[in-house]
Amino acid sequence: MLEKQLIESNNGVYNCWLNYAKCLNPKLVDQYKKICSCLVVNNNNTVKHTAVEELKLALKMIIGIEPLVSNEIPNSSYLFVGTLEDARAFQLETKITEKYADGSYEVKAADNEQNTALQIIGKDGTGVLYGIFYLIRNLRIGKEISQSQIVDIPRNKLRMINHWDNASGDIERGYAGQSFFYSNDEIIKNFSRIKDYARLLGSIGINGVVINNVNVHNIETKFITKEYLPDIARFADVFRNYGIKLYLSINYASPIELGGLKTADPLDEAVKQWWKKTADLIYDYIPDFGGFLVKADSEGRPGPFTYERNHAQGANVLAEALKPHGGIVIWRCFVYNCHLDWRDRSLDRAKAAYDNFKPLDGEFMDNVILQVKNGPMDFQIREAVSPLFGAMEKTNMILEFQAAQEYTGQQKHVCYLLPMWKEVLNFDTHAKGEGSYVSKVVDGSLFNSRYSGIVAVSNLGDSKCWTGHPLAQANLYGIGRIAWNPELSSEEIAKEWVKLTYGCDEGIVQTVVSILMESREVYEKYTSPLGIGWMVNPNYHYGPSVEGYEYSRWGTYHYADWKGIGVDRTVSTGTGYTAQYHEAVASMYENIETCPEALLLFFHHVPYKYQLKTGKTLIQHIYDTHFEGVEKVEEFIEKWMSLKGKINEEAFGLVCDRLRIQLKDSKEWRDQVNTYFYRRTGIKDIKGRKIYE
Ligand code: GCU
Repeated sequence: MLEKQLIESNNGVYNCWLNYAKCLNPKLVDQYKKICSCLVVNNNNTVKHTAVEELKLALKMIIGIEPLVSNEIPNSSYLFVGTLEDARAFQLETKITEKYADGSYEVKAADNEQNTALQIIGKDGTGVLYGIFYLIRNLRIGKEISQSQIVDIPRNKLRMINHWDNASGDIERGYAGQSFFYSNDEIIKNFSRIKDYARLLGSIGINGVVINNVNVHNIETKFITKEYLPDIARFADVFRNYGIKLYLSINYASPIELGGLKTADPLDEAVKQWWKKTADLIYDYIPDFGGFLVKADSEGRPGPFTYERNHAQGANVLAEALKPHGGIVIWRCFVYNCHLDWRDRSLDRAKAAYDNFKPLDGEFMDNVILQVKNGPMDFQIREAVSPLFGAMEKTNMILEFQAAQEYTGQQKHVCYLLPMWKEVLNFDTHAKGEGSYVSKVVDGSLFNSRYSGIVAVSNLGDSKCWTGHPLAQANLYGIGRIAWNPELSSEEIAKEWVKLTYGCDEGIVQTVVSILMESREVYEKYTSPLGIGWMVNPNYHYGPSVEGYEYSRWGTYHYADWKGIGVDRTVSTGTGYTAQYHEAVASMYENIETCPEALLLFFHHVPYKYQLKTGKTLIQHIYDTHFEGVEKVEEFIEKWMSLKGKINEEAFGLVCDRLRIQLKDSKEWRDQVNTYFYRRTGIKDIKGRKIYE
């Protein structure tokens, strides 16, 4: 049964992009009714069953019909819904074959005279589900369906969400309320929200979910024991209906903490046996368990370094235990020594992941996947793309984005992240010459890797609209769409999301899309300029603190002094980080003339009077962008106000509240940053605007 709450809150707040308003175009209604009144389906598969239920719900709400269900193809109009196997049983032709990726589907008009027969054929049950959601999107957007002809294949095998939820109910870097998995150190009892969540994820092609934080505390450590597995299995049951596998973050010290062993040394025989027995136990409860996500030897987490073993040795012991069950180990590369004194200019945190992992290329088992953050630092509003993507030819790699807006306004500020994510995917690593895009590394095609994928750190919580800021739903929607097809443009995705969530009125679509599309640059304008990043309050990462620095009382991330600002990461005079890229890219960044200006301060230490390509000095650029950023937020407010009475009142109000906060914050950012640089340099704004002294 689909959840009542989701169906009834038909306003794009709780039900997000599954907001099924009635179709008002009589011609289309007529066409949809003809095609969808008779469903031909052979219901013998869990996910297919879910798909059919979803279709029935959508048909009822969008065109007001309850279709007849038949197991025979009639002479007249019909909608066939089935797997490849079903298609064969019905002797239907299809382009889908066993060779296609799981989840692939074909939607095509069948030959009948009136063009009123349609076939949705999935390679498997999930393919059927995705085909159905494709159809529902079209019904909702008001597209003709009678001539449909599409074969849709997911580019990435793994399309995942990582939750950083703790058993306490708190979410690390969570900006949308509390966890909906746990509360007060217990697993929640009522699963209705989990069901709604599975629907949302399934509808955008997500097929994996990690339900606990990478920083695994005491209680979450026990999730892999007999005590907790029956409850954990309940989550897996719900997700399975929507074609989603469950994964867990594990504590590398589990053999000690749970098993009572003296060591967690990956080469120790007893440790190996312990992981094997544990894996066997997990699969007794969850036969299709996905595997482990591991943060090891990073920010105080235990790992193989304690035993003088490397990451490959560390990961392989887990991989061996999971392998007989078809499970995988996802090993994170967010590894740097947080105890070093990073003020030492010969050190560079950006180099750490590559330095740790590059020498191990080829040493990981084939069911280990390295999960690499998009940049070498930590989800800044702009930073370079991690050089690891071009560096590990013999290792499976997937890409980690952060939908949670830790450094990008914490879901109080609007910041649509798809333009940033697209830049990363389109980045050319030159690993195999020109055209070696990150998208091809992570979809497995460049290095012919077995696993491929895109992951996002969740931006969800128990807030009514799931993401705190209603417009942040677009980032969640976007991650599913882009992981499915990285060629989609960020604008296409934004348009699709707005239409599905708030309806297809041209004015609404244009207004909301224009806000979304500008929002990342606007956030960047009033915060930290030209790729330097940070300047946030340490630890909670919100609000301006120009010298905010995590590791000690003194120090900055940006090395600003009275003459200049930026981190010299060149080989010739700096930290040598540029050498981690392949040629063409390395020399582009090395040379200040060819370094893209958006990343100027990420790669170079630059005098304030340095002239940018716009003709402005660096200091004037800083002043100007900070004033512009605030003006743009004012513009956002004006645009949003023009929607009053046109979109759902609740969504409208929630966004208004947040835009007000954003305006106040952006002014604070502007004033603090401008004042700081004015004081540092003594150089006045040539436009004579007010800068607090
Ligand atoms: C960031 C974040 C942490 C998180 C870490 C990670 O540093 O601030 O909260 O644990 O990333 O990705 O592991």
